[in-house]
Amino acid sequence: METKRNSFVIDRNGNKLHEPSHSNCNAMERENSPDPKTPSRNGTPSFRTLKNWETGATINDSLYHKAKVVTGCTRHNCIGSVMTPDHMSTDPRKHVRTEEQKIGVAVDFIKQYYSSMKRKNPEMEEKRLSEVVESIKTTGTYHLTEYELIFGAKTAWRNAPRCIGRIQWNKLQVFDHRHVDNTGMMFDAICNHLKYATNKGNIRSCITFFPPRSDDYMNDFRVWNPQLLLYAGYRQDDGSIIGDPNNVEFTELCMKLGWKPKGGRFDVLPLVLQAKGEDPDWYAVPKDLILEVGLRHPRFDWFQNLGYKWFAVPAVSNIMLDIGGIEFPAAPFNGWFMGTEIARDLCDASRYNVLQEVARKMSLDTKNTSSLWKDVAMVEFNIAVLHSYQSDRVTIMDHHSACESFMKHFANEIKTRGGCPGDWVWLTPPISGSLTPIFHQEILNYSMNPSCQYQPNPWNYHVWKGGSTKAFSFKQLSKSVLVMSSMMGKAMANRVKCTILYATETGKSLEYAKSLKDIFNHAFSAKVVCMEDYDTSNLEHEMLLLVVTSTFGNGDPPENGVSLVQNLLEMSKSEAIQEEVEKYSSIHNVARRSSRIKSELSCSSFAGDESANIAEAAGYLSNLRFAVFGLGSSAYPQFCAFANVIDTLLGEMQGERLRDIGEGDELCGQEESFRTWAKDVFKAACQTFCVGEDVSSDAASKALMGLDRSWSTNKFRVTSDIDDDVSPDILEGLSKFHKKKISVCSMNKTINLQSKESGRTTLLVELDCRESSDIQYLPGDHLGIYPCNQTEIVNRVLARLSDDIDEDTPIQLQMFEQRTTALGTISNWVPDKRLPTCTLRCAFERYLDINSCPTPLLLKHFADCATNDKEKSRLLELAEGKSKYEEWKFNYMPNIPEVLDEFTSVEIESSLLLSQLPPLQCRYYSISSSASVHPGQVHLTVSVVNYKTQGGKGPVHHGVCSTYLNNASHGDEVHCFIRPATEFRLPDDPTKPVLLIGPGTGIAPFRSFWQQREHEIEKGTNCGEMALLFGCRHPEQDHLYKEEIQQAMKCAAITHYETAFSRHSDQPKQYVQHVLKERLAELAYQWLAEKDGHVYICGDVTMANCVNTSLIDVMVSRGKMNLITASDFIAKLKETKHLHEDIFGVTLRTFEVNNRVRTRRMSMM
Ligand SMILES: Cc1cc2nc3c(=O)[nH]c(=O)nc-3n(C[C@H](O)[C@H](O)[C@H](O)COP(=O)(O)OP(=O)(O)OC[C@H]3O[C@@H](n4cnc5c(N)ncnc54)[C@H](O)[C@@H]3O)c2cc1C
Ligand SMILES: NC(=O)c1ccc[n+]([C@@H]2O[C@H](COP(=O)([O-])OP(=O)(O)OC[C@H]3O[C@@H](n4cnc5c(N)ncnc54)[C@H](OP(=O)(O)O)[C@@H]3O)[C@@H](O)[C@H]2O)c1
Ligand SMILES: Cc1cc2nc3c(=O)[nH]c(=O)nc-3n(C[C@H](O)[C@H](O)[C@H](O)COP(=O)(O)O)c2cc1C
Repeated sequence: METKRNSFVIDRNGNKLHEPSHSNCNAMERENSPDPKTPSRNGTPSFRTLKNWETGATINDSLYHKAKVVTGCTRHNCIGSVMTPDHMSTDPRKHVRTEEQKIGVAVDFIKQYYSSMKRKNPEMEEKRLSEVVESIKTTGTYHLTEYELIFGAKTAWRNAPRCIGRIQWNKLQVFDHRHVDNTGMMFDAICNHLKYATNKGNIRSCITFFPPRSDDYMNDFRVWNPQLLLYAGYRQDDGSIIGDPNNVEFTELCMKLGWKPKGGRFDVLPLVLQAKGEDPDWYAVPKDLILEVGLRHPRFDWFQNLGYKWFAVPAVSNIMLDIGGIEFPAAPFNGWFMGTEIARDLCDASRYNVLQEVARKMSLDTKNTSSLWKDVAMVEFNIAVLHSYQSDRVTIMDHHSACESFMKHFANEIKTRGGCPGDWVWLTPPISGSLTPIFHQEILNYSMNPSCQYQPNPWNYHVWKGGSTKAFSFKQLSKSVLVMSSMMGKAMANRVKCTILYATETGKSLEYAKSLKDIFNHAFSAKVVCMEDYDTSNLEHEMLLLVVTSTFGNGDPPENGVSLVQNLLEMSKSEAIQEEVEKYSSIHNVARRSSRIKSELSCSSFAGDESANIAEAAGYLSNLRFAVFGLGSSAYPQFCAFANVIDTLLGEMQGERLRDIGEGDELCGQEESFRTWAKDVFKAACQTFCVGEDVSSDAASKALMGLDRSWSTNKFRVTSDIDDDVSPDILEGLSKFHKKKISVCSMNKTINLQSKESGRTTLLVELDCRESSDIQYLPGDHLGIYPCNQTEIVNRVLARLSDDIDEDTPIQLQMFEQRTTALGTISNWVPDKRLPTCTLRCAFERYLDINSCPTPLLLKHFADCATNDKEKSRLLELAEGKSKYEEWKFNYMPNIPEVLDEFTSVEIESSLLLSQLPPLQCRYYSISSSASVHPGQVHLTVSVVNYKTQGGKGPVHHGVCSTYLNNASHGDEVHCFIRPATEFRLPDDPTKPVLLIGPGTGIAPFRSFWQQREHEIEKGTNCGEMALLFGCRHPEQDHLYKEEIQQAMKCAAITHYETAFSRHSDQPKQYVQHVLKERLAELAYQWLAEKDGHVYICGDVTMANCVNTSLIDVMVSRGKMNLITASDFIAKLKETKHLHEDIFGVTLRTFEVNNRVRTRRMSMM
């Protein structure tokens, strides 16, 4: 934020101002004259036409209508050159708003805030408005939310008519220190401000807010310094001044307060800070926070011997910010210098006044004004300033670029906001006025809220409490400064907020997000939020955003990531309209583009790209620093696609990447990739925000191992001694545990659909849902089921617990909590919120995952509990989570009892497992019935999972949920919920042809489709054609629903039926993708390319991909398309929701696929 910091009225081109054709006053004259194109409301024209006298172009400013304060210029006088005009000043002694005025300005501000959002939220706006009005009526004021504060600060900058650097208004870092209550805390905050702003010379704009004005201005927080960094000015006996004459009065005040003058030309004055209206305290600015530039000239070697220098950071600290009527008398802010400002600081006659000295050195004729020595010397001085700052790599702008950037901003503002207030007198630079474009542009000056206001110097009205001055002894002060500085890192860092968004299906991303929070909390104030709970309109005001997400389906978001990406797409569309850049119609569209961008970006580095052109407009998310980590599996063709989509969208909305996207492959080194990425991002974030110097890298690394949240005997305990020993029933328990609304169905029956010869089991599961009103579904939807672990495995776990707890008595997991209160530290055991009260058996049966391979962190705990040294060291080796762990995990896929069998000396307390095991997740099943045909029922087609580990040589593992369903008896409760699959529904128009492709259990949802069609046909609906392509091993073994399909064909619900048999002794091996090309090519081409038909693919991901490839081949062979056009055509089918996929995961040939992909990946590492 830049204002004319020289406290003198600029003395240029007065006659230009008054020249009718160029002045603002003239523009007003023009609008007052009748103009048929200018509609008039209440006698005031709706816009004013402004002319550019260089190009002749005109523009209209209609924003001025919203100006709350007029400039004071009339037909008869112009106050354009007045330094502190009334409309830009607020004197708290005279200016008090009435309640009505307060409400008016607050309501206007809140409306501005909500209308600025890309995503509108009228309900929230209404609610907030009434909250604010109510608060003003009852308390006389209201509290700005942090996001409102950030918006207000940016808008105040945007509205500042005298600032030339406003193009960057959207890129302002806000430090919210409204909580401080003493000058020590203010000093800490200011130190952090200076450190952040200075950034080793790569200056960044920021603002620090201290508490707002209360109803009594005598309780104000103030920074008495006009600027944070100032040079002292010492009046000498002879009336001359050493140092900066501008600061003589303030220097004398500092001396009275006890500051010891040094008598030099460039002595940095202390910070004089006032809290709660108390007498001010002063603090020396730590030397390492003051960056100065010694001035030298590119051609005059003598120049540097003159000893001139200036600060790197211009930070104004005496301006009051008024945001929606809330006044902030202490809100220091900074931008970067324009060269002419420093030149004037040193050359103005009333300042350092060095122009003559320079001119003499240049041997100019200083006696004769017409030699233009002043002009020549001033230009050279400006050259020296720019040269010195640029050579030292300290941000600076020359006045020509500044003017050009302002003109760009002006044009942007006219386009997007309908106007741009500007003070022409201040905006035109002090040298070379007519050489810059601003000079020729008519600009209207008006005042908008939020605004930056001049205010009287506090020493002019402060009533001293402790005598006229208050002095510290130097010793005392140095100590206090030392303490403050050492605390600074931590205290300040805690104010920089970090939001960690996650989306997950099976819980891993949440675990990673929590680890990230642990490490970031060492230097930031981090919180973890699920994407679906996040209000995307807050995005533009975030400072630091980290995203951890997996990918599901076939490159799709996890369910709880869908709303966020939809909102981002919406925002990016409106951005695209404004910026005329590429638009995205769907996530698949972005995914395709993101892989292209990724390869482009891999050639460049993002880290700390602070040198971005400061003359460019700051984009929508330009304040945001972000980094994304994706979890995925390289067995899927769209590896980590969703994370890449988020990364692309944030980047394209001009968020700044702290680090390139990280990707963790569950088939190989996912944890390790995460740890490396997280460490890098943490380092980059600390550098960016100048925090974390005091953070031990050891502590931070431990956090990454999850140790901050880890178990220890004295941190957790299990007790049966509980007040309320009634366990919630399992439905309530599960609902709380999974934070989900769960229902109960009852098992009706299961039927094995495979023949006796097959040796495998595929179940038709029939559930009764008549008692659960929430179980309402449409064909295509999924049922999520919370299974039970097998009793045999639960028993093996219970048998290994070392503590003596009855497995059937209700227990509670408790955590040891310590809280610091005013009365001292209070410690007690509190219930751990994660696990509901239940028996040990129930915990391992229903809530916790005892089937998955333990994480490295859990193995570390096992190592701690091992009594045998050999076992301990092996466990520690595995716990490193590196290649040894990956090998072991992949070969043995051990569940918890198997690990405990391998490491027999481990003595496990139940609290360890209860606190550390991941939750037992639900499994999804595609619904295989139509509710219209089977009201009150849900049918599933479930393949029962059995496999041997170690590539077929190890013990048999049974799939948790499919085994649970297989073993369930009539009447058993099944805990479940419906997951709507909106992307996998039959077409709205039933006449459209549909092609269904699904081998094995992939047939599951299609049964609901044909049942629905049978129902529609019976009702008399005109239904289109439906083709089913099914694949199985052998016609006599696993030809699922053979009779039902024939039945459906009879009533023309299914019009075409094809099969692919892979193990039919009389035929060559065939898969669905082969049959599609061989027997269904013509049909597929006609239906998809000519008849607006739909294709549905269901089941394993590899199969789905092969089918996609076959479809492309069909388009090439039948449609005579080339390969690229055919691929685009199929991609378009997806984008336009004509190609639908329901992906179960890697279900076909799981071991072979995973092994193949993993081996390939390992060889690439
Ligand atoms: C949207 C969606 C819809 C689905 N619809 C259906 C459906 O209609 N019918 C259906 O049967 N399933 C369906 N599934 C799959 C289902 O959700 C379960 O994944 C499946 O039933 C297995 O669960 P489980 O608890 O029995 O096995 P788990 O205990 O979860 O064990 C499965 C795991 O074992 C491992 N594994 C499996 N086979 C092998 C092998 N040969 N070698 C090595 N490791 C192996 C893999 O890691 C696999 O993830 C669907 C999945 C999704 C995501
Ligand atoms: N999450 C899970 O891990 C999970 C979930 C569900 C089921 N399963 C397991 O996965 C297996 C799948 O059972 P299922 O009944 O759905 O199917 P399936 O009977 O194993 O296979 C159906 C048909 O698909 C064929 N096929 C195999 N690979 C294919 C490919 N890449 N493209 C096209 N077709 C392919 C099979 O041929 P060939 O076998 O002859 O090659 C077979 O003809 C079962 O063993 C089950 O235990 C695992
Ligand atoms: C049904 C299913 C579909 C998946 N699809 C993809 C995919 O398209 N791309 C990918 O990289 N990973 C895919 N994965 C792998 C998951 O992203 C991976 O397991 C991840 O670690 C899960 O993290 P989460 O627990 O946070 O959801 C899929 C997994 C399943 C079970």
